[in-house]
Amino acid sequence: MSTFRVLLTPGDGIGPEVLAEATKVLARIERRFRHEFVYEEETIGGAALDRYGVALRPETVAKAKASQAVLFGAVGGPKWDDPRAARRPEDAILGMRKQLGLFANLRPVRIYPEMIAQSTLKPEVLEGVDMVVIRELTGGLYFGQPKKRWESARGRQSVDTLRYSEKEVARVMHVGFQLARQRRKKLTSVDKANVLRTGQMWREIAVEVGKQYPDVELEHILVDACAMYLIRRPASFDVIVTENMFGDILTDEAAMLAGSMGMMPSASLGRRTKNGLGIGLYEPIHGSAPDIAGQGKANPLAMILSTAMMLRLSLGLEAEAAAIESAVDGVIGEGYRTPDIAAAGDNVVNTTKMGDLVAERV
Ligand code: NAD
Ligand code: IPM
Ligand code: MN
Repeated sequence: MSTFRVLLTPGDGIGPEVLAEATKVLARIERRFRHEFVYEEETIGGAALDRYGVALRPETVAKAKASQAVLFGAVGGPKWDDPRAARRPEDAILGMRKQLGLFANLRPVRIYPEMIAQSTLKPEVLEGVDMVVIRELTGGLYFGQPKKRWESARGRQSVDTLRYSEKEVARVMHVGFQLARQRRKKLTSVDKANVLRTGQMWREIAVEVGKQYPDVELEHILVDACAMYLIRRPASFDVIVTENMFGDILTDEAAMLAGSMGMMPSASLGRRTKNGLGIGLYEPIHGSAPDIAGQGKANPLAMILSTAMMLRLSLGLEAEAAAIESAVDGVIGEGYRTPDIAAAGDNVVNTTKMGDLVAERV
């Protein structure tokens, strides 16, 4: 029997609701495959602000570093949304990413054929969509210094800084090219090279790194055009690599290809260790969804599919990951839907029922 150490950080809003369904599914994996998951749980986000005065405690980061993976729910909510607040729940996720060195955020976009008909997009546009957006996660506008607001004689001023080093761009590009090699061998680098200096350097480095992967086709698209192509010809994308904030925005758009934010998992990875695996953080791309929190309406599939990514990418458990993914396929195929992905005639279920259905099929 193998034992794995996993840190759970439920967070706020629907975070705890969807994470509970993920651990329910993992309990079935334990029984079927004879593993043991040893959990630690930490309060983060708004809940931690209320309890400890900070969104992310150093103790929590230490526990994450002592684990093989972190399963992260979601943070944030209207209670902590004061624009003047010095500390925000979101500090928790940004701090985890930065302090664990998780520079590559993989956001796969998969289409379930049974869900195509009810999409807001035309079926012929969605056919064949299968891409992974790799979002650079520890640099760019989110972290560049200076970052501040101040008062001046001419009123309020503020600044954020878009800064990248050669090393930061190159390492995330390598992740993209290596992934593209295992897929359809096409990489789209997304930048704003027509205006931004960082974008010009980004493109230059994409070309340089690409020379080491001559078998992978490299294309460059400006971010504004990419937003348009994502809903015009999404099936043409294989691997997209882009700057932190561009990736944040484009992946919420891409969620509508998958049908809902509740269908979009993610994996955040850093430097790989010798055996090819490294600590990773796994979270749905959605937030705490305050509008539906506490109502049993949250779709847990993004969290459950993130858990499958954890099994595959941080714990090396491929068959176990595939078992979860095919259980999700089964549930979708049988017509079970949470409200966010339901159409007329579907069997609408709540959060816990959806978790039960997936767990039963593992
Ligand atoms: P959101 O992702 O929480 O919600 C956007 C919309 O999608 C809402 O209508 C919501 O009901 C719906 N939705 C999201 N997840 C769903 C799910 N699993 N099932 C069904 N419907 C779902 O984004 P928002 O409303 O812009 O932000 C709310 C809060 O969450 C903010 O405080 C924001 O900072 C935070 N946030 C946190 C994370 C994170 O913790 N990683 C990510 C995004 C946003
Ligand atoms: C995401 C979220 C976060 C981000 C927020 C909550 C800081 O929107 O993971 O996509 O912007 O990275
Ligand atoms: Mn986002």
